[in-house]
Amino acid sequence: MQTVTDPVEMQTISEKLRLGRQLIGVVMTMGALHEGHISLVKLAREQAGTVILTIFVNPTQFGPNEDFHRYPRPFEQDAALARSAGVDYLFAPEAGAIYPEGFSTAISCSGVSDLLEGEKRPGHFSGVATVVTKLLNITRPHLAVFGEKDAQQLAVIRRVVTDLNIPVKVVAAPTMRESNGLAVSSRNIYLTAGQRESAGAIWRSLQHALDRLAAGETGLKELAEATATMIASESGFRVDYVAFVDEETFMPAERALKGRSYRILAAVFADGIRLIDNACFASPTHIAGEEA
Ligand code: PAF
Repeated sequence: MQTVTDPVEMQTISEKLRLGRQLIGVVMTMGALHEGHISLVKLAREQAGTVILTIFVNPTQFGPNEDFHRYPRPFEQDAALARSAGVDYLFAPEAGAIYPEGFSTAISCSGVSDLLEGEKRPGHFSGVATVVTKLLNITRPHLAVFGEKDAQQLAVIRRVVTDLNIPVKVVAAPTMRESNGLAVSSRNIYLTAGQRESAGAIWRSLQHALDRLAAGETGLKELAEATATMIASESGFRVDYVAFVDEETFMPAERALKGRSYRILAAVFADGIRLIDNACFASPTHIAGEEA
């Protein structure tokens, strides 16, 4: 595995790989690698001959009161994990190489960015869209793998890639979970053992909502409210939001219609530590009580 820190050097390497007809897959991360990231690398490996992993804790996607400064940065450990996962190139630039003096461009993607995480974390998705576009331009991959755990981020990236005609295939990777259902995340290291155990309630509650949908309930707003109440009953937990969106448009959805898919998304503070998760439900082509 070769470590690269200079964007121009990374572009030159990718250009040579492309000329040599190598299929390039990229996995973008902010480091603090865990088995979720490794599963993204495996997926990239299956579909591409060369895998680039990027590590960059992107300052522009953190709000002023968020955890940018204390975000874990175990670089040596990350590099060892990346190497053993079969990464070919580790691209780990300094902030100044990505945002040099005078940098003044930002990508803003409206609609899909406006609600949920976008509403709660103003500027977050502009920071993500800008850095992802830069990293795509630097690594020049044929495919880029992103985790479904950040479902709204994935939707924003798909939108940006489509709207800006970026020639890359966006591949979604399923969420890795701990044995109690808690979505694997770099931020889980902030949780105590007890909080980690209680946080399994988020996934259980989302699953419960999907079970009720499968049983024929169609009122998504009511179901989201009931799910929020269920999660909030865990001691020390505060719900930031629980909401359903239409899986195709990512717009808010209040009632399940037959033949459409919906995603329930949740953001929860577990004693101040913010966790997100989501689950998708495909409505059957016939819903009880609805006319054919
Ligand atoms: O999902 C993440 O880790 C980040 O948002 C990403 C895509 C690497 C951009 O900084």
